[in-house]
Amino acid sequence: MNHSNFLVVGSGLAGLSFALRAAELGEVTVITKKALMDSNSSLAQGGIAAVLGADDSFENHIDDTIRVGKGLCDRRAVELLVRRGPELIGWLMGLGVEFDRMGDVLDLGKEGGHSRRRVAHSGDLTGSAVQEVMVQRVKESPAIEIREKVVAVDLVVHEGSCRGIRALDVERSRLVNFQAPVTVLATGGVGQLYAKTSNPAVATGDGVAMAWWAGAELADMEFTQFHPTVLNVGTSPFFLISETVRGEGGILRNNSEEAFMKGIHRLGDLAPRDIVSRAMVEEQKRGQVYLDVRHKGEPFLRRRFPTIYQRCAEEGYSMVRDLIPVSPAAHYLCGGIKVNEYGETSIPGLLAFGECSCTGIHGANRMASNSMLECLVFTSLAFEKIRPHEGSVDLSPMEREVQIVDTPEAHVLRSHLQDVMWDSTGINRSVAGLKQVIVELREIEERAESLLSRGMNTDLIELHSMVAVARLITRAALTRRESRGTHYLADHPRRDDENWLKHIVFKGNRIKVEDHRT
Ligand code: SIN
Repeated sequence: MNHSNFLVVGSGLAGLSFALRAAELGEVTVITKKALMDSNSSLAQGGIAAVLGADDSFENHIDDTIRVGKGLCDRRAVELLVRRGPELIGWLMGLGVEFDRMGDVLDLGKEGGHSRRRVAHSGDLTGSAVQEVMVQRVKESPAIEIREKVVAVDLVVHEGSCRGIRALDVERSRLVNFQAPVTVLATGGVGQLYAKTSNPAVATGDGVAMAWWAGAELADMEFTQFHPTVLNVGTSPFFLISETVRGEGGILRNNSEEAFMKGIHRLGDLAPRDIVSRAMVEEQKRGQVYLDVRHKGEPFLRRRFPTIYQRCAEEGYSMVRDLIPVSPAAHYLCGGIKVNEYGETSIPGLLAFGECSCTGIHGANRMASNSMLECLVFTSLAFEKIRPHEGSVDLSPMEREVQIVDTPEAHVLRSHLQDVMWDSTGINRSVAGLKQVIVELREIEERAESLLSRGMNTDLIELHSMVAVARLITRAALTRRESRGTHYLADHPRRDDENWLKHIVFKGNRIKVEDHRT
C-alpha cells in the first residue's frame, strides 16, 4: 500500500511512538532505510530524564535544562517537556518497558547538567530496551505497515502542501511515491557528518536535508553536540560510554593521570558537555585522555554497566584495573526542522519529531537524556491535536525503475566530508576554517551530483543529504559571531548576549537572524 493516512519516515523512538498513536486514527506506513531496530534511539545508554525522585521538582528540571541551553531554550516548550515527563514514563511502562528499580521506586541515574538524580534507565542499554518494546507493539498493530530498506529521497510538495515522499525501494530497484495527507519526518541525527561519532551509520541527516530542499524552515543548525566519552579505539561509530558512568563517580584523567576537570568547572566531570569536550580536546593535544572508574569496584560496575563493562573487556580494557581511553565524538544535533509544540513544520502536511526537529527545548546545548523524553512528549501532544485527514491525495501514483549503480567513490567522498567537518566545523571552529569547509563541501557536492546523474544507490542518497546538512551547519556556524553552548568560535570566544540572543533560521537559501523570545 503506497497510500495511507499517515506516512512516517524513520523508525527510532520518535517515529514509532507517533506511529503507535496515529494507528488509533487511521492507516500508518512506516518506512525505514534499513531495519526497524537500526536507529540512534536503540543505542541510547543513559536513559530518559523526568521528575520522578522525591527530592526533585518540575522547576528544578526546567531550570537545569534552560541553564544548560545557554539562553536559547524556548521556555514554553521546556515547560511542556518537563511537566509531561512522569506521565510519559508511565505510558512507556504501560507498554511494557521495564526500568531498573530500587525496591518500590525507580533507580534514577544522574548525568551532566542535572542537579538531581532523574534519569530512568534499563541497565546501561535503555535505548534498546525501549526500542524492543516499541517495535513489538508496532508489529502487533494491524493499522501499521512497515516498509524496510526503503530510502527517502525527497518530499513531494504539491500546491504548497506536503503530499508524501519519493523513495528508493532498494530491493526492487524502484523509485516510488508514498502518498499521505500527513507526512512525518523522524529521521534522527547527523552524527555521520563527523569522523568521530557515537551515532550509527544511518544518522546522515536525510530528513533535515529533505525538509530544507522542500523549503521548510530550519533553526539552530550550528549547535552540534559532542559527547565527551566514546571508547577511543576502532573506527566510527565509536562505542558510547554513557555519561551516567561519570554520574556514578567516573573521573576524567589526562596523560599524567591528573583529574583535570576539577579546576575547570564547579561541576567537575559532570559539567555540561561542551565544556568537558573542549577541555578534553585541550588535553588531547598533550596525549590520551582516560576515564577512571577503578575505585567503583567490580560488583558495582558489572551490575550497573554490564554492556559497557563487556565492551571495554572485548577491546582489552578492564574497568576495574585499567584507565579507559576516551574521546569526544559527535552525538546530537540540537537544531533541525523548526516545529511548534505539535510537531508542525512551516509546510502544511509535514510534521517532524525527535532529533531531526527543533522544538526549542535544547537551545544552544541539549541536556543529557532530555531527547528521548522530547520524542515522547511532542508526539503525544501532536496526537491530541491531529485528526485523520479525509479525502485522498490527488497525485497520480508513481513507480519507476531506476538504475542502481556501484559507486566506490561515494565512500571516499563520505570519509573526506567527515574529516573536513571534524577538523573545522567540530568542537573548535574558526572563521577561516569554516570558510575553507564551505569550499571543500562545494567540491564534494559537485562530485556527488555528477555520480547521482548516472544512477542511484543508498550511499549516494546519503552523501547528497550529508553534504547539504554539512553546508547548513557550517553556514550557520559562520553566521553566529560569538561562542555559546556547543558552538565555539575561536575568533569570538565569548558569549555575547547583547548581539546574539538570536536564532539562525534557514528558509531555502535565505538566512534569517531572529530574536530569541523569552
Ligand atoms: C549517555 O548515556 O551519556 C547519553 C545520554 C544522552 O545523550 O542523552
